[in-house]
Amino acid sequence: MQTKELYQIKIYQNQPAKTPAAFADWLNPQQTAPVQRFHQTLPDYQPTPLLALPNLAAAGGVRQVLVKDEAKRFGLNAFKALGSSWAMASLLADRIRVQAAFQNEGLAALQTPAARQALQQQQIAFCTATDGNHGRGVAWAARLFGCPAHVYMPAGTEPERLQNIAALGAQVCNTGLSYDETVAVAASQAQANGWLLVQDTSLPDYTAIPQLIIQGYSTIAAELLEQLHAQGGPAPTHVFLQAGVGSMAGGMLAFLAQAFAAQGWPPPAFIIVEPTAVACCALAAQTGNMQAQIAGVQQTIMAGLNCGTPCSVVMPLLAERAAVFAACPDFVAAHGMRLAANPLPGDPAFVAGESGAPGLGLAALLLQKPRLQPLRQMLNLNAASVLLCLNTEGDTVPRIWRQAQAGGWPLPPELS
Ligand SMILES: Cc1ncc(COP(=O)(O)O)c(C=O)c1O
Repeated sequence: MQTKELYQIKIYQNQPAKTPAAFADWLNPQQTAPVQRFHQTLPDYQPTPLLALPNLAAAGGVRQVLVKDEAKRFGLNAFKALGSSWAMASLLADRIRVQAAFQNEGLAALQTPAARQALQQQQIAFCTATDGNHGRGVAWAARLFGCPAHVYMPAGTEPERLQNIAALGAQVCNTGLSYDETVAVAASQAQANGWLLVQDTSLPDYTAIPQLIIQGYSTIAAELLEQLHAQGGPAPTHVFLQAGVGSMAGGMLAFLAQAFAAQGWPPPAFIIVEPTAVACCALAAQTGNMQAQIAGVQQTIMAGLNCGTPCSVVMPLLAERAAVFAACPDFVAAHGMRLAANPLPGDPAFVAGESGAPGLGLAALLLQKPRLQPLRQMLNLNAASVLLCLNTEGDTVPRIWRQAQAGGWPLPPELS
């Protein structure tokens, strides 16, 4: 693995496998076909916008920059409810034995009088650990399905994140521990109380539910494909994906790689973006230890990415298939937040939060800052490149968003 660090941005160039990927069954398009159909039956479902930033692209000498704006998802300001809603609904459908109807009809299969009665009798309660967005998605879906939810949050949780979850009717507890330790607390509380643990990362002997959650993210890829076709635009060559435990990134890699292959499009390069303090996926890929861990409570504004242990069901895939792992300081996220709010004239403005913006922040810095040319070369960005970023959250903590807009977490002087 070749590595290079410039102005605190560290790029690890991976050597992705060249042979066609053999993806696990649960990542297969046939298994994820009912997912978008289910999401379409949920209240407030709308495909999230695919934005084009042609002026940033032109200024940076590439063909196009695209952003899929997941802040618009279900009015929840982040993409995460896609995973929890699909997983929780599937689990409920299993419990009351309406899986076949559920696969065809989605939510309606859980809302017939008989289904409602069966669900009431079962008294199912959900439980999870979260640094914010996943827990909000679990609380939202639990309320939709009429079930209680218990949500555990780590040290450093911003009060807004906690309040947003409590406002959906969930019981919320700040453990004062690291994210990894909080996941362990949620798991033991679930076991002790007979709650269903809905965790967006794997644990020893706990992989089926994270797999369902990751399947839930496939709706992003399905919509993207439809939007690319509708726009008649070029296919992305570079996909920037921010990672906490890597579940979202691993899922998107699998779904997009398969979808692109089915279209006959060349496979894009996947760039995995993490906070410097907790770049656990980069560490796993670099060391070959898929369980590599960054212990303790780490500091970064990117709360959703502040996870020390990669998700075991996708980490091998990321290590095998990602082109690049990038470890980025907070200023990269803040740059993306500012660029989204104040784009180049003519490009659309949107709201990107601290965990939603690092992919765009890194892409923009590589395009805008000649001093980063050596890193740009490692990513092979050129006039034919089409960059795709996911804005995975909006202003989930308005104070941090405002602080970034006011110049907080500035670029190093050499880059500004
Ligand atoms: C906004 C946002 N983006 C990205 C991620 C990363 O997802 P994952 O933990 O699956 O890597 C998260 C995780 O919570 C998030 O909240």
